[in-house]
Amino acid sequence: MTTILVTGAAGFIGANFVYYLLKNRPALRVIGFDALTYAGNLETLEAAMQNKNFRFVKGDITDVEAVAKVFAEEKIDAVVNFAAESHVDRSIEDPQVFLRTNILGVQVLLDACRANGGVRFHQVSTDEVYGDLPLDRPDLFFTEQTPIHTSSPYSASKASADLLTLAYHRTYGLPVTISRCSNNYGPYHFPEKLIPLMIANALEDKSLPVYGDGLNVRDWLYVEDHCKAILAILEKGSVGEVYNVGGHNERTNLDVVKTVLRLLGKGEDKITYVRDRPGHDRRYAIDPTKIRNELGWFPETDFDTGMEKTVQWYLANRPWWEHIRSGAYQEYYEKMYGNR
Ligand code: NAD
Ligand code: TYD
Repeated sequence: MTTILVTGAAGFIGANFVYYLLKNRPALRVIGFDALTYAGNLETLEAAMQNKNFRFVKGDITDVEAVAKVFAEEKIDAVVNFAAESHVDRSIEDPQVFLRTNILGVQVLLDACRANGGVRFHQVSTDEVYGDLPLDRPDLFFTEQTPIHTSSPYSASKASADLLTLAYHRTYGLPVTISRCSNNYGPYHFPEKLIPLMIANALEDKSLPVYGDGLNVRDWLYVEDHCKAILAILEKGSVGEVYNVGGHNERTNLDVVKTVLRLLGKGEDKITYVRDRPGHDRRYAIDPTKIRNELGWFPETDFDTGMEKTVQWYLANRPWWEHIRSGAYQEYYEKMYGNR
């Protein structure tokens, strides 16, 4: 493999994956492709732009011509698809763009892989395709055999993309893999998601909105461990296979918020219980036995260490999230690329 197309490269996990590749596979050429929706931030890729092995292309994965163009310009050996609408709450407000990007966009990428001689395709999926687990059965975990049972328009669109990806393997023999990961956290996490929102609001002494009773459980994984898993699957995984990725770090939302407050030295008085998310999944929990046994993957960063690193990162990179909250980050592309 010499050239990898990373779609959704200006988002949270895609950007972390770009940096992970540039650091750990310095011989690779990495093409970042991103439509720069509200969730894409080119400021995040500023340091990558300095690396001669990295190129950024602004483009939409649903745009057949834009995708064909990047395939024509570069000799792409593999695609890792992070591009997606990713926020459950937004999918409840307005599902259509989720179906367009998360399903039709994947179809466009799969077709491009086929048209270019059967390019390796990795779909970055989510544990949310399995639905949720009850809180009173801590013995239950999602395995790759757990039936698909989605709750939100977001998870339904991701499940559709997974099925389509597997269909392209079975029908056309396309070399595909899928990873289904639990909730990520770490640097460059968009500040409307739980952990960065709580850090930013706490630093600005704003209220901390906890949905429902705050007892919903998520299985948190430090983003670098997710990047490590995807690279392992790309290099050593079996095509046609699904791999669950998670590190047994289950926490209630309330625990997570209290951890943030403790690390920032703030009190709990700003915690505010707000109306619950409709259809709110109760508990996610991954069984990562397959990826551990078959690919030797294991998470390196435990929750306490990861949360400390994350809070430190948000303290040290205040302009990054302040630009997002003020909207200024959206002017960056114009400034950098406006007259190119
Ligand atoms: P994100 O919202 O931070 O980033 C998504 C990126 O995709 C943005 O840069 C956006 O501009 C880009 N994008 C959106 N629509 C596009 C389009 N039509 N064409 C090209 N680019 C487009 O999301 P994230 O948290 O980094 O998630 C990345 C992937 O990982 C998603 O597929 C998500 O389903 C999956 N995932 C996320 C988590 C998590 O905890 N964040 C966990 C498991 C899986
Ligand atoms: P989120 O970061 O949106 O990820 P996901 O819904 O994909 O798991 O939310 C994580 C959990 O935090 C989820 O149970 C919803 C909850 N939540 C809040 O309680 N308050 C908030 O302001 C947000 C954004 C999320």
